[in-house]
Amino acid sequence: MKPDVNESKLKTALETYKTPFYLFDTDILTERIMEIRSALPPKTQICFAMKANPFLVKDMEKHVDYFEVCSPGEFHICERAGIDEKRIVMSGVYKKQEDMEYAISKYEDIIFTVESFEHWKILTSCALKEKRNIRVLLRLTSGNQFGMDESSIRRIILEGPYEYVEIIGLQYFSGTQKKSGAKLESEFMMLDQLCADLQNQYQFTVQKLEYGPGLPVCYFEGEKDEEEAMLLALSKAIENLTFQGLVTLEMGRFIAASCGVYATSVVDLKTNNDQSYCIVDGGIHQLNYYGQMLAMKKPFITHYGKQEGDVRDWTVCGSLCTSSDVLVRQYPFKALEQGDQLVFQNTGAYSATEGMAMFLSRDLPLILLYSENEQFRTARPSLATDQFNFFHSERG
Ligand SMILES: Cc1ncc(COP(=O)(O)O)c(C=O)c1O
Repeated sequence: MKPDVNESKLKTALETYKTPFYLFDTDILTERIMEIRSALPPKTQICFAMKANPFLVKDMEKHVDYFEVCSPGEFHICERAGIDEKRIVMSGVYKKQEDMEYAISKYEDIIFTVESFEHWKILTSCALKEKRNIRVLLRLTSGNQFGMDESSIRRIILEGPYEYVEIIGLQYFSGTQKKSGAKLESEFMMLDQLCADLQNQYQFTVQKLEYGPGLPVCYFEGEKDEEEAMLLALSKAIENLTFQGLVTLEMGRFIAASCGVYATSVVDLKTNNDQSYCIVDGGIHQLNYYGQMLAMKKPFITHYGKQEGDVRDWTVCGSLCTSSDVLVRQYPFKALEQGDQLVFQNTGAYSATEGMAMFLSRDLPLILLYSENEQFRTARPSLATDQFNFFHSERG
């Protein structure tokens, strides 16, 4: 993946806003979705797994078919953003009676995933209580704690039909950063066969296959960029299906990563026993690259500074009091100085929410959205976290 966010708007952001911050370019996001769509068979639907970046949901509303929502918190974000409930797939491994009751009584057209008999019990009882028709997808496990095995899925289907609950299809996700087209193909073949078996054996028609392909993002220098090849393999695998229903692709990383950058400033430079360390005002609590084990790989970084002088290798460390707070080791920067800014590319997915943001009570970074039409918008100001890490209760 090429570092995409435009130079001049980045410079403006660096001159205007205090680091650390994330900048998500919603024009790039829109282009990316269009690019993905055009590579896929025409009827394929796209569902954004909002865990990858909840700050983007409103801007994506016009461009994706569904949002995969995995917690009550994510659901409330969609409510606040005014996302049409017809576009929500309420997913996730822990569904509570009261949350489902709330959703089913208040909204009519949400799709729910079922990950266990407990979920099934909760959802069917809520639908019955509210006398509301609901639609569900049964999640097939890929061999972990998520979803149900095939025999459980068959049991639920076999015991149907059900009052108020319509089983519209299956959901399947087996992991992220997949780099094998053959794996995608074999998963689709397995699902294709299962759909055919359910039809032949129980006259049950799967109307919708919701599949998370886990397409990869190229995050590091020297890594083979498999993005296009995997998108092509995905498209071929869908075309080869005998399944005639709707295919919905649940994706996060592949859609959102390229639209974002994370900017942090150099606050200290030192040499300890011949090792050059650069301390920045951000850290690993705010920057999360999949596969960035012990910071041994080199992400794509752009250096903003005078850059007059020699190149030297620096180990870039964040502001946390832990020796694991290393963003990159031995990275060559030209004449790095205090006050310079380092911009990490491809941080549009997972970085802003997946890191251990509360550690050390550092502030949550500013989140900026940018588009040519609306210029810069603040999606979240920088926020203090100390208030969450010590709660002073008044003693009576
Ligand atoms: C059920 C499900 N679908 C989709 C996704 C999105 O995966 P990715 O970001 O690799 O596209 C995830 C990620 O954890 C997931 O758990």
